Amino acid sequence: MNPPLPIAILGSGRGSNFLALAGAINKGEVHARVVLVASDLAQAPILQHATTMGLPTYTCPPGRFKTKLEPEIETGLAGAIQQSGAALIVLAGYMRVLKPPLLQPFSGRILNIHPSLLPAFKGLEAWKQALEAGVPETGCTVHWVDDSLDGGPIIRQEKVPVLPDDTAASLHARIQEAEHRLLPAVVADLAAGRIPWAGPGRF
Ligand code: GRF
Repeated sequence: MNPPLPIAILGSGRGSNFLALAGAINKGEVHARVVLVASDLAQAPILQHATTMGLPTYTCPPGRFKTKLEPEIETGLAGAIQQSGAALIVLAGYMRVLKPPLLQPFSGRILNIHPSLLPAFKGLEAWKQALEAGVPETGCTVHWVDDSLDGGPIIRQEKVPVLPDDTAASLHARIQEAEHRLLPAVVADLAAGRIPWAGPGRF
């Protein structure tokens, strides 16, 4: 059997997907280990969860932009991930667009979870976009990350119905329940070699 897949997780927010993945790892459902939890926001709850769990963390220094990191800050983040030995990067609510300093060294080894059935409803607050569009179902997607916005190759999706009395909050909560199943399942399959990697794969 391979050694556990070393994973770095990047997030900017609550970290519920990180908790779902870490929980599945701890239960032995995913043959992986979290080697780094990184955030662009020092106050992000995901960092506090990681610290409580005794996992290594990395916080990017504050930069000038909200939607991307400055090249030297992203280079620092990439260096920390490389040093951690991560073979896979999981974006779990990471709110910045990735640029070449991170995309190039980890090409084909970065995945993201997005709260819609891509290619529908790319971008922010996808559950609100779905509600406003009046679609009968939406869902979540795990996909490989490339230089497009939410446009990399899709790995797997889970559908979620939109109910007549849904609010943005209730729909988002139901999508998140699906995310918490989908993300650990995909990482488990990647770690076990049951689904192909986009790039050179684990090293
Ligand atoms: C999730 O809905 C994910 O799809 C999106 O950001 C949210 C992160 O939530 N990319 P959390 O921080 O994992 O709770």
